[in-house]
Amino acid sequence: MPEVLVLDSKEDGAALVAGHIAALVREHPSTTLGVATGSTPLPVYSALGEHASGGLDFSRASAFALDEYVGLPDGHPESYRAVIDREVTQRLGMDPEHVHVPDGSAIGIETAGDRYERALIAHGGVDVQLLGIGSTGHLGFNEPGSSFASLTRVKTLTEQTRRDNARFFSSLDEVPMHCVTQGLGTILRARHLVLLAFGEGKADAVAAAVEGPVSSSMPGSAIQLHPHVTVVLDPAAASALQHGDYYRWAQDNKPDWQGI
Ligand code: GLP
Repeated sequence: MPEVLVLDSKEDGAALVAGHIAALVREHPSTTLGVATGSTPLPVYSALGEHASGGLDFSRASAFALDEYVGLPDGHPESYRAVIDREVTQRLGMDPEHVHVPDGSAIGIETAGDRYERALIAHGGVDVQLLGIGSTGHLGFNEPGSSFASLTRVKTLTEQTRRDNARFFSSLDEVPMHCVTQGLGTILRARHLVLLAFGEGKADAVAAAVEGPVSSSMPGSAIQLHPHVTVVLDPAAASALQHGDYYRWAQDNKPDWQGI
């Protein structure tokens, strides 16, 4: 059962997660972060940026991104390589050599998944993986129907996801059709999963992922198979949970020694 924490606001949720990551990096400077894109994790990156400005050194830490679009021109501002560079690498003062994003170049795309899996394994995997959830229930870009054993590979985006992400592009036509994404099996290898969701628009996907049947029709439900998961929500994103009262009770009575 994932641990569900409901914070008063997304800023409070982000501060909690950033505080946990900062403590980890302080204790283990070569921590490996799994980083997600989308708008959800942005307040975490901004809170981590404050830890960095306050003197926390991220130069020995590493990061692996979840996914990338296929075929965007090099340096496109909405490529996940560019987003991660802006929001994570530069903000935290990480060494760009330590920050990995799947290679979405059209040339050589057939081997991009295998290359990324090899890099992840050679590195020793991810310590803490940040996750958002899409309105289709996707994790990374694993759309409904993705195998729980899947590894990094090329996938086709659903029309819904293309429409959701069109806000970052000048038109829907500009949104790529394909992506390279860590598989659900890849994500499940990370040692700790932290799923963040804020706002009412995520309430149904969160309830299905946390409490619904474990099914490849709801990729987010893969988190129920992992031994260490923390789900961080605001009250709106928690509003469709059936056992919300119990999660709050457990949260209010959480032993002091127990981190997330
Ligand atoms: C994208 C990303 C996902 C992310 C999702 C939700 O499709 N590939 O990793 O979780 O969007 O985005 P947002 O956080 O903006 O709602």
